[in-house]
Amino acid sequence: MISYPDRLNLAQIPTPFHRLDRLTEQLRSQGAQCPQLWIKRDDQTGSLTSGNKVRKLEFLLAEARAQGCDTLITSGGVQSNHCRATAVLGTQLGFRVHLLLRSDTEPQPVGNLLIDQLVDASISHYSPQEFKKLDSLFAYWQQHYGQQGSKTYSIPTGGSNGTGLWGYIAAAQELQQDFKRQGISPSHIIHATGSGGTQAGLTMGFSLLGMDTQVEAYAVCDNSDYFKRKVTEDIRQWSEQNSVAVEIDELPIVTLDNYIGPDYGVAGPEIFAAIKQLASLEGVILDPVYTGKAFYGMVQEIQKGRYASASDMVFVHTGGLFGLFAQQQKLNY
Ligand SMILES: Cc1ncc(COP(=O)(O)O)c(C=O)c1O
Repeated sequence: MISYPDRLNLAQIPTPFHRLDRLTEQLRSQGAQCPQLWIKRDDQTGSLTSGNKVRKLEFLLAEARAQGCDTLITSGGVQSNHCRATAVLGTQLGFRVHLLLRSDTEPQPVGNLLIDQLVDASISHYSPQEFKKLDSLFAYWQQHYGQQGSKTYSIPTGGSNGTGLWGYIAAAQELQQDFKRQGISPSHIIHATGSGGTQAGLTMGFSLLGMDTQVEAYAVCDNSDYFKRKVTEDIRQWSEQNSVAVEIDELPIVTLDNYIGPDYGVAGPEIFAAIKQLASLEGVILDPVYTGKAFYGMVQEIQKGRYASASDMVFVHTGGLFGLFAQQQKLNY
């Protein structure tokens, strides 16, 4: 029995869980030893709040409220899905929201940023160089609001920490119910990893549930050593906060880091082709920053035979649709 801390009811859950029959069939017809593919639709956790972040924010914003905070400060890339979800939910709940955004070029009011602006979040744009001193940027704004008599709650990039991790522990439990309902025992769960919280939560969640489903995270930035460290750190924090003993070295933390492409947020034509492939076959739309790369990587690995002995496997669609609109010209229509 998992004992959860306070949580706000913000996500539209349980999200749908369904087969990807046409994709499975197509890959098999091309000669791949392809397990039955399934998808967990965490792109449907909400409309404006779509994606994986709202699951973490259910716990983070509950903590912010319990601490009597009135201002949220968080950070991310200029097209951060996490910042957009925080801006929307924070506004809905009556918090002031301040976003610290890393902008490599002149920020365009499109995609996630457009929504941040519409809900009137305060936004500070920083160059990648300035963003390297993120801790001091947080400290500066905490002090700024503190002097105005506000109480701030700071959320790290991606909402990935010991509190946010609960979101994907709960999602692992939801997946366990999905598997039961469908009568399957998938050997692998695939998802995109960026700040490590989804990976940490799912890995910890399946371990707590005693399930041997292997979580395989496809990196969209940083290498597998980084994710080993980050996931370990988040789980250690979670275990200390909740006084749960965890043999972290025994946990199977698996990251594939060979599908990052040119850079974080930069995708080659093969990713846009993969997005079109899934959209036209199954009516499911991925994004070029996270899910498109993880999906493309998964298909490559299926074709190479990595999952040949599996009977069922699951792709977690973690959202990101608004990020596609920010790069729509690359779809070449
Ligand atoms: C759409 C999408 N998918 C996947 C991820 C990765 O999740 P995490 O930050 O928990 O690693 C993110 C955020 O970084 C995201 O916005």
